[in-house]
Amino acid sequence: MLQSLLADDVGFASGRPVASMSTEPHSLGVEVFSRSMEKNAGRFHTFAGSAKVEREVIDMIGDLLHLAEPFGTTTSGGTESNILAMLSHREAARKKTGMREIIASKTVHASVDKAAWILGMKLVKTEVDDQFKAVPDAIEHAIGPNTVGIFATAGTTYLGQVDPIEEIADIASKHRLPLHIDAAFGGFVIPFLNDLGIGHHAFDFQVDGVTSVSTDPHKMGLGPIPCGCILFRSERHLKTVTRQVPYLRGASAFQPTLLGTRPAGSILGTWAVMKHLGRSGYRSIVRQCMKRTMNIKDRVEPSSTLSLAIQPVMNILGIKTKVVSLELATQKMEDRGWRIDLSPLPPTMRIVVMPHMTDGTVNALLNDLEEAAGTVPSD
Ligand SMILES: Cc1ncc(COP(=O)(O)O)c(C=O)c1O
Repeated sequence: MLQSLLADDVGFASGRPVASMSTEPHSLGVEVFSRSMEKNAGRFHTFAGSAKVEREVIDMIGDLLHLAEPFGTTTSGGTESNILAMLSHREAARKKTGMREIIASKTVHASVDKAAWILGMKLVKTEVDDQFKAVPDAIEHAIGPNTVGIFATAGTTYLGQVDPIEEIADIASKHRLPLHIDAAFGGFVIPFLNDLGIGHHAFDFQVDGVTSVSTDPHKMGLGPIPCGCILFRSERHLKTVTRQVPYLRGASAFQPTLLGTRPAGSILGTWAVMKHLGRSGYRSIVRQCMKRTMNIKDRVEPSSTLSLAIQPVMNILGIKTKVVSLELATQKMEDRGWRIDLSPLPPTMRIVVMPHMTDGTVNALLNDLEEAAGTVPSD
């Protein structure tokens, strides 16, 4: 029965999900996770070995993000990390009365809206430039007496764009505000783009004024779902999101997560994948994804029916249609079995070139895209 219900799932092995930010997890992570089903990261007093592994994952991610002494936690993903980041901003400004405000550009991920909603805060959204990057002046202009923090993104969901983090960090420091960087996707991409000389983006703790960064091993880190991570520059920030759980003991008694019971297996799986791949393994995965991204760009650019919203910054492309509507082209792609998304800003079809996309998939995708975007509907 279960198998027949699951027949409707479109798995990564089919190559058809082409807008997802997750992928087939690395087989090593899957094996480790499958052997660790009983382990509960909400009970690190009992699973003290797993707690040590979590610490090592945090340290490895700290190393990746230029923070020698990271304070942080693994999470269920980018959404939980953003909620924790916003909570830390709110709690650090407890003395402020009135509706506390967070400033972020319009391209911030939807989980930041969700965080503001849950935490009873106001999200003030600022303009983006013609490359869909946050505009630092607009952020500074939006700062008011109720502002308690700023969010910026390194690897936007819609286009993989990187906000001007250094300029935003200067503004945050000048106004003594905490700055969270959402690198849910970009955290496992940008360091390797920098290594490969494909781009240079200072986005992490290298930049003074950045107070927290989140990134998700379960996206380009190839770890099993669920595994996200948020790191804080100082222990003070982590403490603001940590609560005592009075009925638990030792390492379980103070939890910096939203969740109580949560799988340790995906953290252990992530540890194994990170150790196994190392920096060079991730670098070659990013190189491969970027090669395929550029193959798509090279076919879309001269097309008479398709165009690119911006030059790809990382392995995400925003594609526009010139003849038929985006909705129609997207529906045709869906009818052909592709799982593709539409982004609102700018209106585009979103393609995320994850490791499960082979050269064959890219070719088939482009052939279908050209056909789907090419016929004017006869009405
Ligand atoms: C920039 C960014 N932040 C946060 C998230 C949310 O991540 P998750 O779905 O793991 O909660 C995403 C997901 O696409 C994202 O792109």
